[in-house]
Amino acid sequence: MKHLLEVKDLCKTYVIEKRQNNVLKNVSFTVEDGEMVGIMGPSGSGKSTLLYSVSGMDRATSGKVILDGKEITKLSERELASVRLNDMGFIFQQMFMMKNLTIMDNILLPAIECDKNNESKKEKIERCESLMRKLGIIEIAGNDINEVSGGQLQRACIARSLMNNPKVLFADEPTGALNRQSSSEVMDEICKLNKEGTTVLMVTHDAKVASRCSRVLYIADGNIQSEYKMPEGLNEKERERALKNWLMDQGW
Ligand SMILES: Nc1ncnc2c1ncn2[C@@H]1O[C@H](COP(=O)(O)OP(=O)(O)OP(=O)(O)O)[C@@H](O)[C@H]1O
Ligand SMILES: [Mg+2]
Repeated sequence: MKHLLEVKDLCKTYVIEKRQNNVLKNVSFTVEDGEMVGIMGPSGSGKSTLLYSVSGMDRATSGKVILDGKEITKLSERELASVRLNDMGFIFQQMFMMKNLTIMDNILLPAIECDKNNESKKEKIERCESLMRKLGIIEIAGNDINEVSGGQLQRACIARSLMNNPKVLFADEPTGALNRQSSSEVMDEICKLNKEGTTVLMVTHDAKVASRCSRVLYIADGNIQSEYKMPEGLNEKERERALKNWLMDQGW
């Protein structure tokens, strides 16, 4: 079977004042097309580092990352930037949006740079509007980013991350800055996208959020200590309880 994402012996070492911090030590895992995989683990265990090294936002020290058959750890900065723009979507806890642009212009921005769909500006705008409609934020299209709620802003970030139809969506604590209600709405959207075929790799502290993944990796001491495949046929509460029991066994 061909994996959408394959990570092999990934290492990341930070050196600060000649002191080495081996954050990732030979991490290997695969993600299948259409999966939604969660990454959990204690604070400082390297979850964000893993996400950034896998997505090429940051260079790994060694090891391989293969996305859809292409070894991205071998690419030049320029080639990598193009893969990030065309094939990857990103959502972060801290929502980065341009202050002097409206919500809609922010969402459109990655598409302006991207020619993979051979679209006219008008087609890009139409697709942007339809994404905003789908995520329930069309009414704030013309607002500035400081004129919307946290949940709306995060939904706008999701819309932006999807503008170029990524093969995989990377999310680092996508609900970390949101209250329960907004968090649940944002997760509904991410799950909906996943059901429609977008592969998702997501870091989260929140067991309720992670319980919506099909598989959860637990990172500790620089490596994947264990992984949990969500059993089929459980309701929401049962999934969360099952995951929490497993997390306790991991020392969570
Ligand atoms: N840019 C950097 N330079 C140096 N050290 C870093 C850098 N980024 C992270 N680290 C170190 O790497 C380790 C892992 O950090 P990372 O942010 O990946 O953890 P995390 O699991 O995402 O934690 P949290 O749950 O708190 O977000 C920490 O010891 C951190 O201090
Ligand atoms: Mg982190």
